[in-house]
Amino acid sequence: MDKRPIGIFDSGLGGLTVVKELRRIMPNENIVYFGDTGRVPYGSKSSETILKYTEQIFAFLSEKNVKAVVAACGTASSVLMKNNKTPDCVFTGVVVPSCLEALEQSKNKRIGVIGTSATVKSDSYASFISKIDADAKVFSHACPLFVPLVENGMFSEDNEITKMVVKLYLEYFEDKDIDTIILGCTHYPLLKDAIRAYLGDGVKIIDSGEQTARMIKGMLEDEDLTGDGNGNCEFYVSDSVENFCDNAKLFLGREISEETHKKVLG
Ligand code: DGL
Repeated sequence: MDKRPIGIFDSGLGGLTVVKELRRIMPNENIVYFGDTGRVPYGSKSSETILKYTEQIFAFLSEKNVKAVVAACGTASSVLMKNNKTPDCVFTGVVVPSCLEALEQSKNKRIGVIGTSATVKSDSYASFISKIDADAKVFSHACPLFVPLVENGMFSEDNEITKMVVKLYLEYFEDKDIDTIILGCTHYPLLKDAIRAYLGDGVKIIDSGEQTARMIKGMLEDEDLTGDGNGNCEFYVSDSVENFCDNAKLFLGREISEETHKKVLG
């Protein structure tokens, strides 16, 4: 049994989709979360900048003595993958678990991917999928306004602006005949209801939060590193604690201000 925490990071709120799922399937694990809210969005930044940020985050999480790191961010995962960078411990990003699940779920092997501009530019999802199944067809589309919507708490399917933005981006898939779509950004599961309402039940939605939590669970079990802690969570953000906690509460359904601290890196 290893009581050391699991480190999870994202540019902001999105990585909480992995935290929520991990808490559900591994309630005894301790978690240290870092949300780089002072520097969000990552999705419009260059690879060099994102690699510099992730290096600082790895150093911070290693000071926290984590036993594993989850890059709960499609953008950071894509850039790390493309540049073969990993921290010195058990590690996963969100690309591999989501792609494996999409390949498992898709019947016609026509798969949509939505993510940030940096993720779509990196081609990480499409290249990993074609390595595993050369016949699969991947259609990737960037949805840059989804992250600001989520960071501003506008994720309800009834919100008129949310509906308009969802239509604006997902129209792209109308003639692509996809039966599966990967939410290639960890912010997007918060928009899942709105996305489902637009695409209909015929398209399976692959939520990186669920798949990634399951993958890290499997990795910890394989390495005999699972914990029997109290399920403590500590959250660190690089901008306003108050804003983060307000939106986190909407999503996690509980108050986290007592466990949240400010930490500016670099
Ligand atoms: N949650 C993010 C992702 O999965 C980052 C969004 C952003 O910072 O642009 O890509």
